[in-house]
Amino acid sequence: MTLQFSLAAATPETADTACVLVGVYEQGVLTSAAARVDGAIGGAIKRQVESGDISGKAGSTTLIYAPAGIAAKRVLVVGLGTQKGFDAARYQKVAIEAARALGKLPLGKAVSCLTEVDVPGRDAAWRVRVAALAADHAAYRYTATFRPREKSAQPELCALAFAAGAEAQAGLEQARGIAEGVRFARELANLPPNICTPAYIAGQAEAFAEAHDKVSCTVLDHVEMEKLGFGSLLAVGRGSANKPKLIALQYHGGAEGAAPYAFVGKGITFDTGGISLKPGPGMEEMKFDMGGAAGVLGAFIAAVKMGLKLNLVCVVPSAENMPDGDSYRPGDVLTSLSGQTIEVLNTDAEGRLILCDALTYTARTFQPQAMVDAATLTGACVIALGKHASGLFSKHDDLATELLAAGEHTLDRAWRMPLWDDYQVQLDSGFADVANIGGKSAGAITAACFLSRFTEGQRWAHLDIAGTAWDEGRKGLATGRPVALLAQWLLDRCA
Ligand code: BES
Ligand code: MN
Ligand code: ZN
Repeated sequence: MTLQFSLAAATPETADTACVLVGVYEQGVLTSAAARVDGAIGGAIKRQVESGDISGKAGSTTLIYAPAGIAAKRVLVVGLGTQKGFDAARYQKVAIEAARALGKLPLGKAVSCLTEVDVPGRDAAWRVRVAALAADHAAYRYTATFRPREKSAQPELCALAFAAGAEAQAGLEQARGIAEGVRFARELANLPPNICTPAYIAGQAEAFAEAHDKVSCTVLDHVEMEKLGFGSLLAVGRGSANKPKLIALQYHGGAEGAAPYAFVGKGITFDTGGISLKPGPGMEEMKFDMGGAAGVLGAFIAAVKMGLKLNLVCVVPSAENMPDGDSYRPGDVLTSLSGQTIEVLNTDAEGRLILCDALTYTARTFQPQAMVDAATLTGACVIALGKHASGLFSKHDDLATELLAAGEHTLDRAWRMPLWDDYQVQLDSGFADVANIGGKSAGAITAACFLSRFTEGQRWAHLDIAGTAWDEGRKGLATGRPVALLAQWLLDRCA
């Protein structure tokens, strides 16, 4: 369940809650909420600042239990770092650390005054939204595949209120929708590949459509795709017992007949590399290779939950890339839905092969006014940008600018990479119209170049989220990126 969010009418001193959160900068500068609480409880915060027990370091937390003089049972003092240079990124970091600290306390409800802290360039709606999303992020637990455990008697944080004015209400409502989309994306991506198959993703999409007016869903199975000519997508899935699906969700929130926005997300539920088999160590991480699908579905859910007044489609090509007697192989020449033929030089470059058919299908079927795909497409993008920025590729400067701005606003950042035609020659093939890999150099760019050949005439952008969709390491969980970026982009289209 998502956390419950609300706005608190009370002041920091009178909020009758298990815990009230207030911020303190380094060098002992108290925020106004901290100063009010400090006055009411006889200077306990200031004394701890003077003794050095409260440093004010960004993200540090100090609990004051049962202070006399205020209604709340506890005060959680949260360090904000230096007042000079306090910015949006720091605010988000602090909000996440505060939420983590809250999660460790035995309480069901809390009131946060952090949303009163001034953040340059951001309004109250943004502050409330980011604080709520940070709290929901910290509260998420993956439990789906553990043995059912006894619920502990300790209460868990389930409701968080913010001390903020009326303009914060909009931020709160957006947060509810986006948090749900992020949760959905994280849960779907975290599920193991023996559960999260193409059919499972299709079932999730169908269930969502069933439960929401204005949302409809169509799923093409491999037999229907065969008839329609999805030669590239089907080749990728041929080695797996879990047959490919093409999932299309439609949301009619806007004017009848208005061209929709379109998302396309890579839904490889497991990527072994196929006949061009990947090395064993770390291969389990390739269950996240449907992170693009999870991200676009999450953004779609956020848009529906926020009730955005626009038309939106979300298309997910889904398959499993396995080695098998019936697998596609290096040397094969495929005929894509677009009619272009593709020489397979590496079966591990499969993402682009399912996306190309999905992009053709989306453009033909829905004639979108803009089309954005998200995909864990290349290891090369992880080398280039690491885990902090998604790679953004587009020939459309206006669309690229919109997406970069949405990423900056939500701190779900993207960084633009070139998509110049100079790179296209790397995809030349002696046996087909195009090869599916472009050689050693510029791997993220040549992958995007490949996709660009299937988006002629479209206003299209590609997000390579290979580095951002999950945190590496043994306990690495899905991050829910780029749900926030995409949801913000849609919000901006409605403004
Ligand atoms: N799913 C991978 C990309 C990937 C690799 C994402 C590592 C996250 C972490 C993709 O299908 C793939 O295997 N790409 C190849 C392309 C190569 C064969 C041209 C890669 O990046 O090595
Ligand atoms: Mn691969
Ligand atoms: Zn892949």
